[in-house]
Amino acid sequence: MKIVPFSPGCGAVVSDLQLSRMTDIELNQLRAAFAEHGLLFFRDQDFPPHEHLRFANRFGEIVVNKFFKTTAEHPQIAEVRKEKTQQTNIGGGWHTDHSYDDIPAMGSILVARTLPETGGNTQFANLAAAYDALPETMKKRLEGLRAVHSNTHLYGENGIYRFTDLADQLGGMDRVGDATHPVVVIHPESGRKVLYVNPGHTISIEGWEFDQGRELLDELFAHVNTPAFTCSFNWLPGSVTFWDNRSTWHMANNDYQGQARLMHRITLAGSPLKAA
Ligand code: OGA
Ligand code: MN
Repeated sequence: MKIVPFSPGCGAVVSDLQLSRMTDIELNQLRAAFAEHGLLFFRDQDFPPHEHLRFANRFGEIVVNKFFKTTAEHPQIAEVRKEKTQQTNIGGGWHTDHSYDDIPAMGSILVARTLPETGGNTQFANLAAAYDALPETMKKRLEGLRAVHSNTHLYGENGIYRFTDLADQLGGMDRVGDATHPVVVIHPESGRKVLYVNPGHTISIEGWEFDQGRELLDELFAHVNTPAFTCSFNWLPGSVTFWDNRSTWHMANNDYQGQARLMHRITLAGSPLKAA
């Protein structure tokens, strides 16, 4: 197995490995790489849905998304689907999966099934590197703060997705809810400090005036969303990505209107997050 950085501050490419024929020793090497990089890319995988499931079950415990449709055959595989005629895509803004849960998802494994001819990249950001690069004064300011994470503004009755052509594809309107998490968490596996706020789900700072919280969050989001901490992955048939939801953000580019794109996602359960 070979592991090389994808870009200086974001992700790693794993080669000389077929996920569906991985030994237990390779699985342990992969665990270490996952804790270190938080974002792994794989090419040329022979990875049908049953192998996707088998890999997920070997790595951890599967958790099912409350809002996405699943494949007909496998209720643990979520479909990230955009039809030719659809305008809106799933995950088109920076976010991390399931941060609105009390115990957020550990990771997501995304597999390309149908790809547009061009476009449809997924962008990622490294939140451990972004934290390290914050000025000391900001690190001090963030100590002890907690943020509110929600999905109501996206998937609730008046959530923005309900007014788009994605609405028919989404369930769970009645399952919306919030959670609070420390703004800086200790990553459960790597022990690194990570900035745990994201533009999609983090709505406010607990105990602060809304506008004040918004100002701080926007400042943090702008700090992360720069070339030093971000990268863009171009999907090809056989590509798989596996990201850590505690230490990365991602977003799906919506630059392929008139073409279809279908991805399969399995999400793995995490553990409670502790303040740094
Ligand atoms: C997801 C997601 C990004 C993409 O599956 O959680 O945001 O590029 N997908 O499809
Ligand atoms: Mn996502």
